[in-house]
Amino acid sequence: MCGIVGYTGPAKAAPILLEGLAKLEYRGYDSAGLAVRDGDAPVQIVKSKGRLRALAEKTDEGRALAGNVGIGHTRWATHGEPSERNAHPHVSGAPEDHDRSADPSDVVGVHNGIIENYAELKEKLRKNGYSFYSETDTEVAIKLVEYYYKKYGIGPIDALAKTMVRVRGSYALAVMFRDYPGEIYVARKDSPMIIGVTEGESFIASDVPAILNRTRSVYYIDNLEMACVRPGSVAFYNLDGEQVEKQLTTITWDAEAAEKGGFEHFMMKEIHEQPKAVRDTLHSVLRETETGKEIDLSSVGLSEEEIRRVSQLHIVACGSAWHVGVAAQYIFEDLAAIPVRVELASEFRYRRLLLDKDALVVIVSQSGETADSLAALREAKRLGIKTLGIVNTVGSSIAREADSVFYTVAGPEIAVATTKAYSAQLMAMYLLAVQFARVREEIDAQAYADYLTELETIPDKIARLLEDKDRLQWFAAKFSNAHDAFFIGRGIDYAISLEGSLKMKEISYLHSEAYAAGELKHGTISLIEEGTLVIGVLTQSALYEKTVSNMVECKARGAYLMGLTGYGNYSVEDAADFTVYVPKTDPHFMASLAVVPLQLLGYYLSVSRGLDVDKPRNLAKSVTVE
Ligand code: M6R
Repeated sequence: MCGIVGYTGPAKAAPILLEGLAKLEYRGYDSAGLAVRDGDAPVQIVKSKGRLRALAEKTDEGRALAGNVGIGHTRWATHGEPSERNAHPHVSGAPEDHDRSADPSDVVGVHNGIIENYAELKEKLRKNGYSFYSETDTEVAIKLVEYYYKKYGIGPIDALAKTMVRVRGSYALAVMFRDYPGEIYVARKDSPMIIGVTEGESFIASDVPAILNRTRSVYYIDNLEMACVRPGSVAFYNLDGEQVEKQLTTITWDAEAAEKGGFEHFMMKEIHEQPKAVRDTLHSVLRETETGKEIDLSSVGLSEEEIRRVSQLHIVACGSAWHVGVAAQYIFEDLAAIPVRVELASEFRYRRLLLDKDALVVIVSQSGETADSLAALREAKRLGIKTLGIVNTVGSSIAREADSVFYTVAGPEIAVATTKAYSAQLMAMYLLAVQFARVREEIDAQAYADYLTELETIPDKIARLLEDKDRLQWFAAKFSNAHDAFFIGRGIDYAISLEGSLKMKEISYLHSEAYAAGELKHGTISLIEEGTLVIGVLTQSALYEKTVSNMVECKARGAYLMGLTGYGNYSVEDAADFTVYVPKTDPHFMASLAVVPLQLLGYYLSVSRGLDVDKPRNLAKSVTVE
């Protein structure tokens, strides 16, 4: 989704802004722009459609723009097509004035998020003499800031506060005022923004990697807060314009974690980081005691008393995080005998919620900023229901607002298609399910110990799977021209199918669907024809024969069958044309292993189709709009 970078200090701003925007490319965007101020001279604005490279070339890698303060933006179109006109930064005047070298920009700004009532505000501004050059909600927001600034003759913070009261929606705004050269003003609601400081310099960014090369000392600006950013210092304000104190946080992960480290793509690097992500997540709560190993959820903030009281679980998330929830549902119900409902956050937030007062709402999110998941969390809290976040990004909105947080320890994930964060989320779910089962006396001490022993084997088993990539590469090349693929499975195998199918479609643009295997013959089987690829996921021995039968039904209609199963289930080869085996583990934990070949399949298909693996079209890493 959109990215914001800002700089004020002694150095030339534009190259720093371009460097920061390049680190945010992974978020997905379709145009980019810079605004740089050089003292009292008119602000310089350069925009371009398409890749950041074009903007860098237009500005001679930033060298063509003089000035020590500036803001930059990568836009992922919401209001209006991707074009230079709609690209940010936006100005409070008319850009035509700019061409005549008058300064149109008492106020110039960039924005992430969506202003929901922009049409109504546009009308109000039109009545007050404003005209608009773009289709964006951002131009409306910038003009509204200027309107209040001039109408009431107030300072930037008061003008921003009035704007914040008037707009509905989500925003991270970074704004420069002509009358306040050297300063950047920031306002935030429901869209991430951090401010980094170092000796004599300050940086703003919508995401940590953008400024990690420059500083590790950052402030997290809270919802409905504003900041005045000067070289090397920041002042924070609440909506009443009162100054608020904030703690500096040190980012502990190193900049290399956000580099490719010798891999061709971030996705492949992150696939290989899975053993570590899963092991680190496991060890974050596993303790050695005198009587053996045990799970200690004190860092999560979930007591045994609270675990006993939970009457039902609602797992709420989007995309792959929702797929983790689908797998977790089977595991929690089976091990801990707790009723579970898994819901898409975009649905949960808009239905009448009849939640039991002792329910636990579990929000799963890598970024911790997904707009629908955040809204679902707030809705549950509004109803007085306890919330638990399973979150990868420290300091993110969901992590800060949930009652308890289980941090996955996957490190920064850059590729749009999630891999290591998904695997770490699965591990977090296993640990919770096993602990719930033990505390609620659904399993005895021996079973508890056995599950923990088995969980400790998973990272090495994932590593073993990664040693055998070549067959999948060959298979992907063979099917790179396919049009449709169907993933089928039952129970946890259905959850794995959902994730395998999403990995395939989001980066290889090959149409694929995941179906509960038994559901296929209720309509979808009519799509199976000569050569259609059907991938049967067969890791659950109790359901193995059933799914094989469904695969055979597809074969009878011409499908090419791939089987994905555990070592030992060699009879699958009687039906399947191509089989991939994964190491054996407890059936509850099979998703952690079976997903790896499917991630690799999606990856290799994307590569063999010549696509941009890390930045697939139309997608964004962090979906901060609904
Ligand atoms: O940051 P989140 O985990 O909340 O993101 C949820 C989804 O947007 C995300 O999993 C998405 O589906 C990925 N592109 C899947 O690879």
